[in-house]
Amino acid sequence: MKVFVTGATGWIGSATVDELLRAGHEVVGLARSAASAASLDAQGVTVLRGDLDDLDSLRHGAAGADAVVHLANKHDWANPAVSDAAERGAVETIADTLAGSDRPFVMAAGISGVVQGRPALETDRSPAIGPDSHRGGSENLALEYAEKGVRVISTRFAPTVHGAGDHGFMSFLVAAARRHGVSGYVGDGTHAWSAVHRPDAARLVRLGLESAPAGSVLHAVAEEALTLREIAEYIGTALDLPVASVAPEDAAGHFGFVARFAGLDMSASSTHTRELLGWSPSGPTLAEDVAAGAYSAA
Ligand SMILES: NC(=O)c1ccc[n+]([C@@H]2O[C@H](COP(=O)([O-])OP(=O)(O)OC[C@H]3O[C@@H](n4cnc5c(N)ncnc54)[C@H](OP(=O)(O)O)[C@@H]3O)[C@@H](O)[C@H]2O)c1
Repeated sequence: MKVFVTGATGWIGSATVDELLRAGHEVVGLARSAASAASLDAQGVTVLRGDLDDLDSLRHGAAGADAVVHLANKHDWANPAVSDAAERGAVETIADTLAGSDRPFVMAAGISGVVQGRPALETDRSPAIGPDSHRGGSENLALEYAEKGVRVISTRFAPTVHGAGDHGFMSFLVAAARRHGVSGYVGDGTHAWSAVHRPDAARLVRLGLESAPAGSVLHAVAEEALTLREIAEYIGTALDLPVASVAPEDAAGHFGFVARFAGLDMSASSTHTRELLGWSPSGPTLAEDVAAGAYSAA
């Protein structure tokens, strides 16, 4: 398939591009800068210059492809509304372009906010509905297109898609530990996150693209629930730092923006995803990655 990938230069996107190329697909990648264009070109990807704010570039990419994988995100953590609006606009534009074609559209989502107090299931609907909600309500919006002739697939990534070079939530926990000389967890540390190794997540994106039915919700989750206290202990051991509780009222000062996620349950099951696609994550666990030094470079 000729696959249009947004976010092709990102953490998950670049691994997904490798995975798609290895499987014999052709990739057209969205690039918003000359540097991104050059790196895609070097990877053997056809470059489409554009931006999440240039909806015509997204229309053009989607119209000319057999399938779309949308992984770009502004990740403006200081102004989440900016990222959310761009996310909703991009998803709506791509889905409208694909409507009536039955072509696959894999879009990125997260586990946060789906449920609290137990692992999220693929059958749990996100409570985020409408433009002012988390991620602009983009998952629910996208899933509506399953009835409009789009083979839409939402891939909810674990809050840590880990590995050497990660610049996601895990790297912010590590940075906070370095800054304060203590590896912290919020309160009693019993909130839990799920985790997945990056190439396993990329493989799931490809499998979903190739064969998940319209309206599927996939969980890119290898480890269902690691408590924030366990994660703090992995970091403390790797960096040789003490591990301690951070009071909820001090969490923002300790962790920065990631405090609001460090006090959330983002655990999730992937039983249905594994059964549906025969996906079997095989990469290192988060503990193994951290112990091997994936987060040890300053
Ligand atoms: N990583 C995780 O642990 C995780 C967990 C849950 C959900 N997710 C979601 O999965 C998706 C991929 O995440 P990621 O970690 O791979 O993200 P990332 O590493 O931050 O990559 C973001 C990508 O979006 C592109 N981008 C940013 N702003 C853009 C704009 N204005 N126009 C066009 N492209 C733009 C970047 O391009 P440049 O290279 O040019 O900057 C990059 O390719 C996101 O939706 C993310 O929220 C990720």
